[in-house]
Amino acid sequence: MPKRPLVLALDVGTTKVSALVAEARTDGELAVLGIAATPVVGMRRGLVFEVERVAMAIRDAANRANSMAGAALTHAVVAINGEHLAMIPGQARVSLKSGMVRAEDLHAVLAKASQVSLGSDQDMIQTIRRGIGVDGFRGVMDPVGMVAHQLDADVFVVAGVSTVIRNLRRVVTMAGLTPTQLVPAPIASAHAVLSEDEKQLGVVHLDVGGGTTGVTVYRGGHLQYMGVIPLGGESITSDLSVGLGVVATQAERLKLEYAAVGADREGTLEVRAVSGQSVKLIPVKELEEIVAARVDEWTQFVENHLQRIEWQKGPAGGVVLTGGGAMLKGLASHLGTRWGWPVRTGAPFGLGGLSDLSRSPGYATVVGVARNASLAGRKPDPDTVWDRVIQFWMNLWT
Ligand SMILES: Nc1ncnc2c1ncn2[C@@H]1O[C@H](COP(=O)(O)OP(=O)(O)OP(=O)(O)O)[C@@H](O)[C@H]1O
Ligand SMILES: [Mg+2]
Repeated sequence: MPKRPLVLALDVGTTKVSALVAEARTDGELAVLGIAATPVVGMRRGLVFEVERVAMAIRDAANRANSMAGAALTHAVVAINGEHLAMIPGQARVSLKSGMVRAEDLHAVLAKASQVSLGSDQDMIQTIRRGIGVDGFRGVMDPVGMVAHQLDADVFVVAGVSTVIRNLRRVVTMAGLTPTQLVPAPIASAHAVLSEDEKQLGVVHLDVGGGTTGVTVYRGGHLQYMGVIPLGGESITSDLSVGLGVVATQAERLKLEYAAVGADREGTLEVRAVSGQSVKLIPVKELEEIVAARVDEWTQFVENHLQRIEWQKGPAGGVVLTGGGAMLKGLASHLGTRWGWPVRTGAPFGLGGLSDLSRSPGYATVVGVARNASLAGRKPDPDTVWDRVIQFWMNLWT
């Protein structure tokens, strides 16, 4: 029996590096064999700032995920994040001499549509398929085998700043791994939690991380919009630290344990000083005001992005939140009330193996990276090198 391909997925986030080793199962699920997260310093707003420290965290997370899985994978598919990510639309048309769409025609038209002009400091990261047309009929999902004269493709090319891309590749390499493919983090995260129905109906997905918030919008089954806001949960922690006069670790603990959006509570909280001797009394109201101000600012950033989309009635599939920041108490209901759309917190689905560990909203990105790579497992091609199979199917992301 041929050995099933395993994939190592990495998400080098602002607060933690996540690594996941998974196997594509024949039922389409992802069997999680190993998962680990290592806290990281040296990242800012999704970008690498201190190569040595980030590389160390990557090595640690990958080693732990590998050993949990009993694997020794050295090739990794890696999420890339940051405000520098841009989406550039591309179109192309090819004539079909054979009178039929063959796989190579689909390849050719997608490759041609991907030839968009990039800025001198930009490199292409991935091509996202938006729509395929056959003889003028749009919205064909799988055209291969159809009788036709012409094939059209609409794509989005995701590009990023070259030096940012090189630094990410560099830290992964310094960690002793080979990055085979980079995947835009907001899109990976969306793939882990959004259903096909939601994408068809129209859905907004927000990945609320530590230093960034990824915004994606799907409609009619395809990606319509992607953007990254350089703001996440860390800003609440730093404001609490400054505003309440407590150290960052205490501010983080206060946020995780007590902070809630729109709770409107009274009373005081006791916070022990780092030395453990003196006790500081913090009015809950003060804490809530700081959180509310930050959440309000963040919400306005998100709304700026959402205003770039022409809505008729809003997203019928609602809003889905992921990332650690999505776990802020009261956030989903606050946004639901403000926008009048259903808002839910999304957990990665379609997982077997160590699924309980990987079902947290904070693992959505790394699960999405692995999920997409695993699609290749369902289309076995004995003559193709695994990395190239991954590359091919990832380029066909919708
Ligand atoms: N229960 C919780 N309540 C509120 N915030 C939380 C909770 N759990 C985690 N967070 C916050 O989530 C953030 C980290 O989220 P996540 O792990 O998705 O970020 P990341 O991937 O490292 O960063 P980024 O995606 O921005 O690069 C931190 O700011 C953390 O404080
Ligand atoms: Mg993240």
